[in-house]
Amino acid sequence: MKNIVILISGRGSNMEALIRARDAGELPVNIAAVISNRPDAEGLATAQAAGIATWVMNHKAFPDRESFDAALAECIDDFAPDLVVLAGFMRILTEEFVRHYEGRLLNIHPSLLPSFPGLHTHQQALDEGVRLHGCTVHFVTPALDHGPVILQAAVPVLDGDDEATLAARVLAQEHRIYPQAVRWFAEGRLRLEGGKIRLDAPLDGTGALISPVLR
Ligand code: GRF
Repeated sequence: MKNIVILISGRGSNMEALIRARDAGELPVNIAAVISNRPDAEGLATAQAAGIATWVMNHKAFPDRESFDAALAECIDDFAPDLVVLAGFMRILTEEFVRHYEGRLLNIHPSLLPSFPGLHTHQQALDEGVRLHGCTVHFVTPALDHGPVILQAAVPVLDGDDEATLAARVLAQEHRIYPQAVRWFAEGRLRLEGGKIRLDAPLDGTGALISPVLR
């Protein structure tokens, strides 16, 4: 069974979705550890309650990004993960860190990339007046919120939406697609080859799921 390490910074609801999928027998992975860069991340308690080893690597204790990332990589590698899963990990990573985990580092971003990288994605979508918004699971490359797209889910933007209602609609889809993508990796059906996704999975080839809200 593949070993994964999950990195969080806060609430940890995507991490929880992964734990739930594992507990339901839908995600054949060993969650070796959950690491947070923030000592007060709510998700730490959730992971502990699930019996998962937790670790805090406080970035504030390091003089610069390079030294933090090097220490973080050392901590991660102690658990010998096949895959590192960023689940609301709010840190910009150095190129060296990203290269070290090339092909085994996943992120989820709350927009349909390449639209709306960075922060406040739901407000960006509302400000642009787009009709479809969503979330993306991708392999991480050195450019922020960039990298080969594995899976996306789209939701409609409804009249009267505000940041909170739109975020909640997207989050429900995040909790669907992240366990799915991690499962494909765990089953050996997903890999990065020459910078492109190789996916042997029952999709129609589009790499997209459309939210049931649209049906
Ligand atoms: C999610 O919307 C995720 O896509 C983004 O940050 C949020 C984290 O939420 N990167 P949670 O900590 O998983 O609840």
